[in-house]
Amino acid sequence: MRKNIVAGNWKMNTTLQEGVKLAEEVNEALKNTSAKCDVVICTPFTHLASVASVIDANILGLGAENCADHVSGAYTGEVSAAMVASTGARYVILGHSERRQYYGETAETLREKVALALANGLTPIFCIGEVLAERENGTYNEVVKAQIVDGLFQLSAEDFGKIILAYEPVWAIGTGKTATADQAQDMHAHIRNVIADKYGKEIADNTSILYGGSCKASNAPELFSKPDVDGGLIGGASLKCADFMGIVNAF
Ligand code: PGA
Repeated sequence: MRKNIVAGNWKMNTTLQEGVKLAEEVNEALKNTSAKCDVVICTPFTHLASVASVIDANILGLGAENCADHVSGAYTGEVSAAMVASTGARYVILGHSERRQYYGETAETLREKVALALANGLTPIFCIGEVLAERENGTYNEVVKAQIVDGLFQLSAEDFGKIILAYEPVWAIGTGKTATADQAQDMHAHIRNVIADKYGKEIADNTSILYGGSCKASNAPELFSKPDVDGGLIGGASLKCADFMGIVNAF
């Protein structure tokens, strides 16, 4: 059966020293809890190797927030999937709406990134989600389906089985405005149907689909109680150990 997962997305926050401290705190807190879900933190590239050296990979997973769409070479400023993997990280967030919106990531670049992540043994946490106008004009189901089809349906069934999905309605990210648990459940069930139509029910049932967008300790229990919501991708509330653990303990 699919896993429940709570993953932190630190975004462009914390210095190296602050990040290492936060990772140590989360690692320590997890040692003293019996978490009922997998827990992952996704940190800036600069933090990965140091964080990897202070956490126990058996209780806390580590990921990057992005990787390059090329193998290696003359791409100044880029960080490859192989480089990420060489730090000890095992996950990578791909297609976050902030990357799509501010850095022009397209389905084409995302297909390259997904392929390179998988080739280097990284588990992609692939983000999808509609903007407010699409929620309001009622096209959100088609929009999210297109993001999945265009970004992921080139994969073999075996490779698709390695993907974690994160549904993050853009209007809920960092806004304090969460999708209701019913809105999240409806979308997650839709996403699972889209996957089942392509890869079959077994793979769809085994795919973890996380919710992201102003998820916090107070609303996580209701969101996570929904049958198709398998955890969360957490931005703001992953930056303080107690807040993040409050969400982990929602399971
Ligand atoms: P948020 O961000 O929890 O701060 O809304 C979630 C995300 O963008 O992954």
